[in-house]
Amino acid sequence: MRAVVITGTSSGIGRACALALDAMGMRVYAGVRRPQDGAALCSVASDRLTPIVVDVTDAESIGAARDLVAGQVGGEGLAGLVNNAGTTVPCPAEHLPLDVFRRQLEVNLTGHLAVIQAFLPMLRSAHGRIVNVSSVGGRVGTPLMGCYAAAKHGLEGLSDSLRLELGPLGVHVSVIEPGFIASSMPAKLKRDTDDWLRRLPGDGRDTYGRQLAAMATRISREATAGSPPDVVAGAVAHALTSRRPRVRYPVGAGAKRLLLLHRVLTDRLMDRVIGHATGYQG
Ligand SMILES: NC(=O)c1ccc[n+]([C@@H]2O[C@H](COP(=O)([O-])OP(=O)(O)OC[C@H]3O[C@@H](n4cnc5c(N)ncnc54)[C@H](OP(=O)(O)O)[C@@H]3O)[C@@H](O)[C@H]2O)c1
Repeated sequence: MRAVVITGTSSGIGRACALALDAMGMRVYAGVRRPQDGAALCSVASDRLTPIVVDVTDAESIGAARDLVAGQVGGEGLAGLVNNAGTTVPCPAEHLPLDVFRRQLEVNLTGHLAVIQAFLPMLRSAHGRIVNVSSVGGRVGTPLMGCYAAAKHGLEGLSDSLRLELGPLGVHVSVIEPGFIASSMPAKLKRDTDDWLRRLPGDGRDTYGRQLAAMATRISREATAGSPPDVVAGAVAHALTSRRPRVRYPVGAGAKRLLLLHRVLTDRLMDRVIGHATGYQG
């Protein structure tokens, strides 16, 4: 029975991946931060699915999860690791506290490397695969989301290096690049934007407030009307099981169109497209 570890399975894309891979007969180790989220997942999955408590910023929880999984899979190793956990910080760069920036990199980038390091020996022994959930935001920057763009662009670069480094060792690395997906993200983005609007100093609110609120509304609206998380789970399943896994999977509403524009347009023209799409224009 092929075993796979997924981070961030309490909701959205991670939850859809856990349930889809479970339904395919895999032994899923589903990363959650709260035990009650693991129990909720178990109530709708097979008894193969095992919740593991993993906060990707907490070395102790990663180590404990690794020990638990290693003890159960033994010499069979791991067929896959899906690095999906992620958060979004909507804040103008001018007023972004550096500790918040560092925290975002920790969750969306450094934490994934920490998890990869922990599980790599098990992946190597099974010639398993790594699937990193990035974003179209890992290829195309968006105003007022600089720290998300930095983390996801970093994840794209890290994934390219890992693919080259680990391919010869038998571990394939794929990147998933979702567009607009109807997960818990839209509601969290609205909530966090309201919070940042309150936290901004007066001149920050005057300069950026209206556009920050407008951008969050647009992204939330698009994501709410976007593709279901199952669409991403399908791409993850392909990356884990296909005989010819792809390097990149742009998937879900808007992803392929935006990345095609990114490829064919000049940077200046692309800026106009993003400015128009986000409503952030001079
Ligand atoms: N939705 C979209 O339109 C979209 C588009 C592009 C890319 N993505 C990417 O897809 C991935 C999944 O996002 P989603 O849309 O499914 O959002 P979501 O429903 O908010 O799920 C995010 C998951 O990450 C977990 N998480 C957050 N911080 C964590 C930490 N420190 N350690 C471990 N887990 C943590 C959350 O757990 P808690 O419940 O404990 O907070 C939750 O399970 C993210 O990497 C996101 O950037 C999403």
